[in-house]
Amino acid sequence: TTALVVAVDGPSGSGKSSVSRATAASLGLAFLDTGAMYRAVTWAVLEAGVDLSDAAAVAAHVRTVALVVGTDPQAPTVATVVDGAEVDLTDAVRTPRVTANVSAVAAVPAVRQDLVLRQRALIEAACLAPGPGREPGVVAEGRDITTVVAPDADVRVLLTAEESVRLARRARQDLGTADTEALEATRRGVVERDRLDARTTAFTTAADGVVTVDSTTLDFDGTVAAVLEVVGRRV
Ligand code: C5P
Repeated sequence: TTALVVAVDGPSGSGKSSVSRATAASLGLAFLDTGAMYRAVTWAVLEAGVDLSDAAAVAAHVRTVALVVGTDPQAPTVATVVDGAEVDLTDAVRTPRVTANVSAVAAVPAVRQDLVLRQRALIEAACLAPGPGREPGVVAEGRDITTVVAPDADVRVLLTAEESVRLARRARQDLGTADTEALEATRRGVVERDRLDARTTAFTTAADGVVTVDSTTLDFDGTVAAVLEVVGRRV
């Protein structure tokens, strides 16, 4: 059997993380959350007190940060190593402070070059040495997987949804409700972060050969089914 690489990109709130996880679980593949890697190095940069406006200092620090990425779709994890001991960051990378600063770190070209190489290595490892009971291959999701990290992936999907729908999903996910107040509170983390990210990565339009799955009118299971259908078509 040959390995299967599925690349999924999309904006915040498109459901790409949960949908990619379910797709990976369904196919028996590993799951790679590249956003968690950008978040983890952002956590480390903040922790070290590096001046975020000093791109060279940010990139230099990121190069020293060890990342340990767990790719089980059932329980993806990210950790770093401090003084020889693993420090789990799976929850720490979801804090508002990391979320508010990750776009700035991800905008540094040398940081991106660094993480893209690590992501390619993780993809290769999932293909060559799948975990126990796992099929060779991976569903990798982010902002530039279909275009930069794995442009030659077997399957490339851009997951989109109308902004109002993405906002409501994120509000429900983060705050448990999508009332006016929750929508307003969520707007900055979704719309503003996408605006910042759009200066760095092209995740709103599908590159050549990338299949768009619009989840605006689909529920979660329907979106997973649509992605699996694209995989079935391509393999
Ligand atoms: O997907 P998630 O919201 O966790 O991503 C966090 C941030 O990491 C994004 O807002 C973006 O700045 C950055 N990112 C990126 N390229 C990727 C994945 C994430 O620049 N492939």
